[in-house]
Amino acid sequence: KIYSASTTAPVNIATLKYWGKRDTKLNLPTNSSISVTLSQDDLRTLTTASAAEFFDCDKLWLNGKEESVEGNRIRACFAELRAVRKVLESANPELPALSSYHLHIVSENNFPTAAGVASSAAGFAALVRAIANLFELPQSPEELSRIARQGSGSACRSMFGGYVAWDMGQSDDGSDSRAVQIATQEMWPDMKSVILVVSASKKETSSTVGMQTTVNTSSLFKYRAEVLVPQRFKEMSEAILAKDFETFGRLTMMDSNQFHAVCMDSSPPIFYMNDISRLVVGLIETVNKIYGRVVAAYTFDAGPNAVLYYLEKDEPIVLGLLKAVMPDVDGWNKKPNTASITPTV
Ligand code: DP6
Repeated sequence: KIYSASTTAPVNIATLKYWGKRDTKLNLPTNSSISVTLSQDDLRTLTTASAAEFFDCDKLWLNGKEESVEGNRIRACFAELRAVRKVLESANPELPALSSYHLHIVSENNFPTAAGVASSAAGFAALVRAIANLFELPQSPEELSRIARQGSGSACRSMFGGYVAWDMGQSDDGSDSRAVQIATQEMWPDMKSVILVVSASKKETSSTVGMQTTVNTSSLFKYRAEVLVPQRFKEMSEAILAKDFETFGRLTMMDSNQFHAVCMDSSPPIFYMNDISRLVVGLIETVNKIYGRVVAAYTFDAGPNAVLYYLEKDEPIVLGLLKAVMPDVDGWNKKPNTASITPTV
């Protein structure tokens, strides 16, 4: 008999960036971060987890291609989930011994993997939730976020819809480093986003490697993590709760720019943005100046692609502008990749 469960997990795009680990094994960050979870139809990973007594090893297929399951991160997620299932099985001996069976995971993205569009976040969130569903675990999204974090830091934030914080936590074992919801989608429903695919190719420096280069070599980084981010975290959380787009947008752009500044302050310097990314920055800064308010806010992760946040009422301005000036990459911009905010995960 094969036991199976499927789930989808959405992408989240940080507006206050996670960049730096204090523990690379447990994926414990050097600062708390904030993100918005985008709608599932447009951007999501669909994952099916299966377990059977006759499977002879763990296996993983990503977009139809078999991938290794030997990585420490996947191993950590499997081990944590099996441990919780084992507790459940000990308390309920009638349950099948799924914790001792091998797992087969089949995962598919509907967006370009590793192009800096937060694919690892949706990927690990879906992996953890699919196995948690298969194992019928009673754990809350917050508890599962602790496990997803060990797969990829940003994945912990995809366990919630709406506006999400990853509280860095203080403890060495990572037990308090998990995602919490700041506000539901319903509390601020008119937020929208559009993803501008500037390049669909794999990024040059992975975030895992890049952030450790920054931690080890950038002198600006420490000040960002210890002084600037804690203050910005408070201001951004308050702006979200007050539905203050002006402040939210300004902080989002400032934080993206600062994150790329510490990347450039690393040795060797890391460049994620390219000429088209900088064109987007200039364009949005100009539009905001012309209107005398924040119409749209840009943010860039560990790659050249831009994500813009704006309020629904301003969609004609934002999309009109992009249609007029954005170069097309792989047909992605012919139909703008707009996404609303996901209510629930
Ligand atoms: C720039 O979560 O991909 O997107 O924990 O090593 O897997 P690992 O890193 P990852 O880093 C994301 C970095 C970022 C900012 C963010 O999402 O907060």
